[in-house]
Amino acid sequence: MDVNNVLVVGAGAMGRQIAMLCALSGRNVALVDVDAGMLTTAEQELRSRIGRNVEKGRLAQEQMDAAFGRMRMTTSLEEGAADADFLIEAIVEKVDVKRDLLSKVDKILPPHAIIATNSSTIVSSRLADATSRPDRVCNMHFFNPALVMKCVEVLGNPETSEETIETTVALTKSIGKSPVLLRQEISGFVANRLLAGIQDEAVSLYEKGIASVADIDTAAREALGHPMGPFELMDMTGIDVNFYVRTARFEESRDEAQKPKRAVVEKFERGELGRKTGVGWYRYDSAGKKLGP
Ligand code: NAI
Repeated sequence: MDVNNVLVVGAGAMGRQIAMLCALSGRNVALVDVDAGMLTTAEQELRSRIGRNVEKGRLAQEQMDAAFGRMRMTTSLEEGAADADFLIEAIVEKVDVKRDLLSKVDKILPPHAIIATNSSTIVSSRLADATSRPDRVCNMHFFNPALVMKCVEVLGNPETSEETIETTVALTKSIGKSPVLLRQEISGFVANRLLAGIQDEAVSLYEKGIASVADIDTAAREALGHPMGPFELMDMTGIDVNFYVRTARFEESRDEAQKPKRAVVEKFERGELGRKTGVGWYRYDSAGKKLGP
């Protein structure tokens, strides 16, 4: 199926970048948010980020202007949905709010339109029955910053049609991304499960007193070629994120191994959440520069 008109709902950190990728690929895009201020901020941030690419010669000014020309920003879901072939949902990570939105938009979208969720944790089988088209609902999971990160995980629910998956994979490729196709629903998908494995082992080595936080990070960078060590990454994304994700995964699976590690719980309870609080596994100055362990 050809995808000419894309609707992105949610103009936050992720939605705005996803909308831009689609506009840069030549598609007409409607970016919808309930908050008009968020749309203004989204446009300002995108103009500055894409403008830097123009300054560095990675993109022609005309390409940038044409992409912005193809992008409509609006608070009206009706306006954005009426002619959409493909919806990418990137609103707040709450099942009920997502279900509400999907049930509403399902009634406005053309019957052929596909609905993809960018959720990091909610599989589409928890959303699909809020619509009249479960065969056209799937997950399409981007990574932050979506403008840069190449990986997009694509997965269907048991009712998703082959055509939906094929169209989603084709769209992923056509916006310059590398699809990772999951053949079954699983919480955490692939990349975040790999990351969880590395983070768990790193925290476990530290808890056992085998090596320091800094040395474990050095091993990940210097031996495995990771751009950042697992502790540095946790400090960047927030130790609370690790805590909440693992708590949710434990509650879902009742598997003790999924629980947040003791050292993570201690950091969380002390409010030492990483860069944003000035202390996490490392200490940071007010500009977020690492000061040391
Ligand atoms: P965000 O909080 O930055 O943006 C969410 C936006 O959705 C806000 O602008 C809000 O006004 C809007 N919104 C809320 N309810 C709405 C509704 N009913 N209709 C229209 N707009 C509505 O959130 P962020 O970080 O962009 O995350 C969005 C989704 O992307 C979540 O499902 C999250 O799990 C997923 N995700 C986030 C990543 C990240 O690193 N932030 C990475 C990959 C996926």
